Amino acid sequence: MSKKIIIGNWKMNPLTPKDAEKLFKNIAELVSRVKKTDIVICAPFIYLDRLTKIRTSKIKLGAQDSFGLDTGPFTGEISPEMLYNIGARYVILGHSERRAMGETNELINKKIKGALASGLVPVLCVGENQRDENHEYFNIVKTQINECLDGISKNSNSKIIIAYEPVWAISTTLNQKDATPMDCEEMVIFIKKVLADKFGAKTECPKIIYGGSVNTKDAGDFLNGGGVDGLLPGRASLNANKFMEIVKICEALNK
Ligand code: PGA
Repeated sequence: MSKKIIIGNWKMNPLTPKDAEKLFKNIAELVSRVKKTDIVICAPFIYLDRLTKIRTSKIKLGAQDSFGLDTGPFTGEISPEMLYNIGARYVILGHSERRAMGETNELINKKIKGALASGLVPVLCVGENQRDENHEYFNIVKTQINECLDGISKNSNSKIIIAYEPVWAISTTLNQKDATPMDCEEMVIFIKKVLADKFGAKTECPKIIYGGSVNTKDAGDFLNGGGVDGLLPGRASLNANKFMEIVKICEALNK
């Protein structure tokens, strides 16, 4: 069985390089004995370089976005190749907070292709804004997956992680509501079916993880009952002890 994975999404935090180093060092120290869980920290671009200099064999670094091409006249963009060259190995793509700023499935598709070509593991975020009685949310996630993974070969499938993040459950969403492990599990089953229809039932399925206000109280429930291979905590990853607690829960289940 492959290892479960915990990916911390720091979002646009913390405010200074000093605080970023401190948080990363604290996490690195706490996770130094972890054996059965893969750990990734996705930090803001400008901190990545200095974080790679902090010695840890347990944490891989990731970015929270990247451009779809490697080099060229694209003012303000950061390419996946650049990220790889400074030591990042993962990149979150299509996060709902970026989709809210106008990112389309088509653009995310280009970014996924660019990330794969540069050797980064894309963590593709999918999820509906709200749930409706007619279960339209299943179609929304299906379209996100089909369009974001358009033209991706089935051999690349195992190099991708899909993060199911219902937007209504993310900690910063107005009128946030907690999702249940059951909400998650039924979506994971659905995502697996969408992937099997797209790539063939025999193709290795990407890891599917859950994100949306994951905390020390419910991490175990999602890992146990949510049918996922890992978690993507945002707010909880900004506190080294809370993040470690989540890693510990995962480690205990990984037996
Ligand atoms: P949250 O963030 O854990 O703070 O809800 C998760 C995410 O948006 O990736």
